[in-house]
Amino acid sequence: PTEKGWVANFLHKYQGFWHTTRQLQAVLTCQNHFQAQDSDIFLVTTPKSGTTWLKAIVFALMNRVRYPNFKNHPLLAENPHVLVPFLELGLYIDSQIADFTTINTTSPRLFGTHLPLVSLPDSVKNSGCKLVYLCRDPKDTFVSLWHFTNKLRIKDMGENSIEETFDKFCRGVSLYGPFWDHVLGYWKESLEKPQRVLFLKYEEMKEQPKVELMKLAKFLGCPFSSEEEQRNVMDDILKLCSFDSLSNLEVNKTGKLSSGEEYKAFFRRGEVGDAKNHLTPQMMEKMDKITREKLHGTGLMF
Ligand code: A3P
Repeated sequence: PTEKGWVANFLHKYQGFWHTTRQLQAVLTCQNHFQAQDSDIFLVTTPKSGTTWLKAIVFALMNRVRYPNFKNHPLLAENPHVLVPFLELGLYIDSQIADFTTINTTSPRLFGTHLPLVSLPDSVKNSGCKLVYLCRDPKDTFVSLWHFTNKLRIKDMGENSIEETFDKFCRGVSLYGPFWDHVLGYWKESLEKPQRVLFLKYEEMKEQPKVELMKLAKFLGCPFSSEEEQRNVMDDILKLCSFDSLSNLEVNKTGKLSSGEEYKAFFRRGEVGDAKNHLTPQMMEKMDKITREKLHGTGLMF
């Protein structure tokens, strides 16, 4: 099925999820060509759930021995989306076959992806690689996505009203949506295979960042030593990757991705609960009701 909209673009349904035309080509190329390695780490999100933040944190975590005092750190000079490339967006766009030897030089290889579980390439499904899934309250995710697609990214793609876009999101029509199916796919996988999928929430990362960072380090097989704890390495990582720190870096104020998005579009407010400033109480209630119904009996709540 095809459905008009989100931006000035058609969305196509593939394996139960919505993609733009360009994205869908990239998904297919990636499914056909990507070769996973057992040591690979995938950072999975729906758009606007905190991908940029997660990429920064995991990059800093995995490379902390290389940059012990956080001086000359790559995150100070480069945007997290460049350091941790998107599997199906940047790498395979326009049906190119990516050359990972030049793109992703750190070990283990880190990738971002918005792919739903069902659409991951077979080589990922069949390998021993680890997946970190980060989700966010759908109301805040929606508001962030609406701003991103309407205001922040490339101009003159047309504007969709928040009401119209909200209606589509609620019907499941959004980039990589239905949102709830995306989240539930990984939620169930994390319950069945906790060694393989770590399931995190944006709100909990905000509330108890150190606890979540320790969880991440343990899951990825590189827990913090007591010596590192004494040196406050966790605080250093969290400070480096904080919204204020990243959004105020020169590179993130002025740079842009090769696809045209300005880096600053990935940093808006970075807060929990901003949806209430943009949605009516009725819209908030409607979304909460859908969420309650979709997640009923799964053990997952927002
Ligand atoms: P808001 O639009 O609510 O501000 P993604 O990285 O998946 O595209 O998500 C972008 C959202 O994450 C935006 O949310 C952005 O402001 C927020 N964000 C970006 N960097 C962040 C950080 N270091 N800490 C917390 N939130 C961050």
